[in-house]
Amino acid sequence: MQSLKIRGGKPLRGKVNISGAKNSAVTLIPAAILADWTVSLEQLPEIRDVEIYRELLRDLGADVKLEEAVIHINPTRMKNSPVSSEKVQQLRASYYLMGALLGKFKKAQVGLPGGCNLGPRPIDQHIKGFEALGAKVTQDNGMISLEAERLIGTRIYLDVVSVGATINIMLAASRAEGTTHIENAAKEPEIIDVATLLNSMGAEIKGAGTDVIRITGMPHLKGCRHAIIPDRIEAGTFMIAAAATRGQVRIDQVIPKHLEPVTAKLREIGVIVEEGDDYLDIRGNHTYKEIKIKTLPYPGFPTDLQQPVTSLLTGVSGTSVVTDNIYQARFRHIDELKRMGASLKVEGSSVLIQGMTELQGAKVNATDLRAGAALVVAGLMADGVTEVTGIEHIDRGYENLETKLRDLGADIWRDEQDSWNKER
Ligand code: EPU
Repeated sequence: MQSLKIRGGKPLRGKVNISGAKNSAVTLIPAAILADWTVSLEQLPEIRDVEIYRELLRDLGADVKLEEAVIHINPTRMKNSPVSSEKVQQLRASYYLMGALLGKFKKAQVGLPGGCNLGPRPIDQHIKGFEALGAKVTQDNGMISLEAERLIGTRIYLDVVSVGATINIMLAASRAEGTTHIENAAKEPEIIDVATLLNSMGAEIKGAGTDVIRITGMPHLKGCRHAIIPDRIEAGTFMIAAAATRGQVRIDQVIPKHLEPVTAKLREIGVIVEEGDDYLDIRGNHTYKEIKIKTLPYPGFPTDLQQPVTSLLTGVSGTSVVTDNIYQARFRHIDELKRMGASLKVEGSSVLIQGMTELQGAKVNATDLRAGAALVVAGLMADGVTEVTGIEHIDRGYENLETKLRDLGADIWRDEQDSWNKER
């Protein structure tokens, strides 16, 4: 087993290029199977979640080729077999196979999804959407079966704003008869990205990025080429790491608008953030002041950055409060940060952070992807060496994290887990 080791205390300096978005890639890959010819996706991030998706599509008989950061998916020879392998359980976004296979074959059998353990993650709104489109949905032995004679466009009101349900319904509806209206839809940039791809494939989708999306389905969708949007969560992680180490970093190849909620909060604590057309310059300060952050669906502050920002706030004066209203149990990084000397208290869905604690290097474990990012940020801030285990979670969603950090001057390396006592 590998771990990441970080000797903290070095300010990050330089420029980092942001990769294509994980949460777009894992949507666009299954969306590609709705086409009748090859779909090519550029800016593909090299991360484990994408690798698992490639394997899932190959298992289903799709022809999948990789050419540097471009994936070519030709689904013409795909079979509609049940998808139940342990790969489904490794990946939350495997649930997009439900919408994509239902749209393509009017029938799908997919195992219940896995992914980060963030407390209960129901998929009732996905099911509600599929049923409204005309599918019969049953669940047995950890498998969801969906079947429809015809999929017919309709009005669907989502009871909770859900990224996954919005996208899954869009996928199925893009091959349904007539027009589907999704009301109370999620507005994340990844939703606009999937709508752009489906439109290039020949579907008619309007309103993506607002809370009402109208999808007019087509009997056939064609192949196309599409570039995946930059990963706003990876970018936000580097913004936070730059601020936390009091560094000076250009976050390059981003869409600054997607980072507005993060920029606003960093400015509020005293970080200098300057926006360019496709970059953000981050300049850390020696003194920061406390803040309150509440996670909300886009354009609110993203839940996926709640954990890394908590590490930053341990180095801010006063008491800050971070509240996660989306995943109220997303606090498994807290005990690990405490092991590094942080003064933190969880109260309901909030964490109170008593600032200006000097973090100390320790052996800590990442229990999920963004917990891993939080521990890496803490390691960069800490005195001494931090060892982060559980890095398979980090590898699921960050492309070359330690190489990118090393290029910014961090002292970080990958090591065998049992080598804690070995001299570097
Ligand atoms: N929810 C329901 N019923 C549903 C669906 C969702 O109650 O049918 C609830 C969830 O329990 C949660 C809230 O609605 O409280 C929002 O969940 P959403 O469906 O929006 O989340 P998701 O689609 O499962 C995606 C990202 C997550 C990110 C969330 C929120 C992917 C593959 N995952 O998850 O990303 O945290 O949106 O923005 O796109 C990550 O990247 O680390 C990650 C976990």
